[in-house]
Amino acid sequence: MHYPWWYVPVLTAPMLIAVIAVIHVVVSHYAVGGGILLALENQFAVKTGSTAYRDYLHQHARFFVLLTVAFGAITGVGIWWTIALTSPLATEFLIRTFVFGWAIEWVFFIVEIVAAFIMYYCWTKMPPRTHVKITWIYALAAWISLVLITGITAFMLDSRSLFSGGTYSSGIVPEFWHAFFNVQFLPQMLTRTGGALLLAALYVFLHCSWVFRNTQSEMPGIVIKRMTKYIIAGTIFVVIGVVWGGLTLRLGVWLIIERSVLTNILITVFFGASALVLLGSLFGLFAPKQINIAFAGCLFIFGITALGSAEFMREAIRKPWIVDGYVLGNQIYADEIEERQANGFIQPSNWLNNDGGGTVFMYHCNNCHALNHGVSAVAPLLAGENKNDIKDKIRKLNQPIASMPPWCGTEAELEALADFLEKIRPD
Ligand code: HEC
Repeated sequence: MHYPWWYVPVLTAPMLIAVIAVIHVVVSHYAVGGGILLALENQFAVKTGSTAYRDYLHQHARFFVLLTVAFGAITGVGIWWTIALTSPLATEFLIRTFVFGWAIEWVFFIVEIVAAFIMYYCWTKMPPRTHVKITWIYALAAWISLVLITGITAFMLDSRSLFSGGTYSSGIVPEFWHAFFNVQFLPQMLTRTGGALLLAALYVFLHCSWVFRNTQSEMPGIVIKRMTKYIIAGTIFVVIGVVWGGLTLRLGVWLIIERSVLTNILITVFFGASALVLLGSLFGLFAPKQINIAFAGCLFIFGITALGSAEFMREAIRKPWIVDGYVLGNQIYADEIEERQANGFIQPSNWLNNDGGGTVFMYHCNNCHALNHGVSAVAPLLAGENKNDIKDKIRKLNQPIASMPPWCGTEAELEALADFLEKIRPD
């Protein structure tokens, strides 16, 4: 094996990534959407000479900078930490292919941080028109970092290159530009930009209804009415982006719907939560005073549920791949399958000798299955099956529906694994 295995009990490693990723997304998308929103609204307040509105935006910027810079940076590092531990091969492959993309992203990240501090600390200290320009620099830098990262996640989901007329690009050595000229890039950009706007407006709902909770001020009515437009536009972008992305997936959307109960639940949750956000935000347009802290809190929860289910969907439909066409969920490259079947799945390992079926399980299965309890735990899936049934199942791992990689080991490894699984499965 290329790297040693890492087992996360109950949750499984990819679900740990998903949990940290969802937390990160809830902050990082706010960093992007909040930037666009502050730039547009600051420009509007300066143009119309609305000092009170500009003061509120300043107050919001404090909350915004504190949350996005501190928390966003910590969870971002958390993502690197988990992906490097759980999917080292995929991480190595992505760094080799897209290192230039990350280098550019870090430059924009620095611009983003510097602009955020200038925006907040110099709010009242520089001419308003210059200040509007600073908010635009922040917004653009944050959005460009979204473009760069979305390129990489889009490639991981569907690596078909538009250079080759949308054919499957496995076998071609991928390079930097494949991040942006793949089938999923534009739908994902639409989804993420829409999600960023939607989420940022929901944060403003929360913040504004809290700040003005005991006042008779007219300000919350004005703020909420303006934010509702971003929510409506954002939700429409997200829904179109998800449907467009789903319809253009290599696997085909029907196969994904047929393939597992989980994806069906996620799709239902996604559309349900999006509809609730859209309906709830209509109050913002017609009865903005109704949006109190509890109402804003509910809308926020529906919003992050919609975004979270879209992230989980992306994770679930990518299987058996970690990087579509290149790195499989059992931590090997696609072009290594036959060699592993002939010479053994874990024999070429520099890390550990094969000391039985438990080790084979850890290398070949642990990236998607918990052992006895937890996410997709393998023991209950095999309840009551005898060793021959188990061997048959493993031999046909990727049939009839290919959410699993093919079996990549030798007969001896299969024997050891089946022995091990038969011992731990419940009767
Ligand atoms: C890339 C991820 C991945 C890997 C690696 C993986 N599986 Fe799976 N496996 C899945 C998914 C996803 C499903 C369930 C599909 C569903 O929800 O219907 C599944 C389902 C199963 C099932 C139930 C299927 C049935 O017909 O009853 C068994 C048993 C199973 N896996 C065993 C294994 C074993 C043993 C290994 C290691 C040799 C393994 N899996 C490796 C993703 C994976």
